[in-house]
Amino acid sequence: MTTPLRSPPRAIVLYGRASFDHGQNLKALAAALTALQAARGVPVTVATAYADLSGPALPAVLAELERAGIEEALVIPSMVPADPSLSAWLPGALSQWASTRDSRMTVRLAPAVESALDLPAALDRIAGGPTDSLDDVRSVEPSLGKPGWSEIPEHRRQLFFCTGARCLHRGADALYQHLRAAMKPHRALNAGPRRVMCARTSCLYPCNRGPLLVIQPDAVWYGGLTPERIDRIVERHLLADSPSATDILHRNRPAEDAPMG
Ligand code: FES
Repeated sequence: MTTPLRSPPRAIVLYGRASFDHGQNLKALAAALTALQAARGVPVTVATAYADLSGPALPAVLAELERAGIEEALVIPSMVPADPSLSAWLPGALSQWASTRDSRMTVRLAPAVESALDLPAALDRIAGGPTDSLDDVRSVEPSLGKPGWSEIPEHRRQLFFCTGARCLHRGADALYQHLRAAMKPHRALNAGPRRVMCARTSCLYPCNRGPLLVIQPDAVWYGGLTPERIDRIVERHLLADSPSATDILHRNRPAEDAPMG
């Protein structure tokens, strides 16, 4: 939240990521928008919600506004660059959120702001413009997303690649791209029963041993990643089912084969 929740019944929620092009960030944009709105005598609560790990997420922010007595929330997707996939998913997801609670708060969704040339002014235009033409999100079919997103894909392993701040500082981003490039030529690793599902994660804790990754269900941790080390992990562990012993940072004891309760 950028501003403390006060009494006005209307709120604007900027929905984006923590950082933007041009050195702007979502909280700074919210502060600029608050000032612009106040200058024209329109006191309004401006909140921020995040699509990345920065948090808070949009449902939590809307719920807080609802508890604060806000009667209408205008959600403005404020990602730069824009995320078409997220924009397509958002109407149904918001409708799902609004439809599953007994809320009197109207939630409207503004068009995504797609240019960073003068983002505060663009946000101000939308926030200050007429919203009557924008339907309440409940006019859209409630949806959690594509039906396929309810299914766990066929796979053999999951690979968790740390992209926390400290691993990023040590080059994790480029190393992750190296991993994806090393895996790409091997069809078996990308689809079917031997597929390896890759996920980038936030901090996995032993930062000083980073950049690092974990492969499950083998419970193998690799640290101090380099392009050469990643190549060995792909060749030996993912393709030949034989963990690269010289590169292992830690290996958990095998789990007891007991039913989970
Ligand atoms: S940032 Fe990667 S382990 Fe902490």
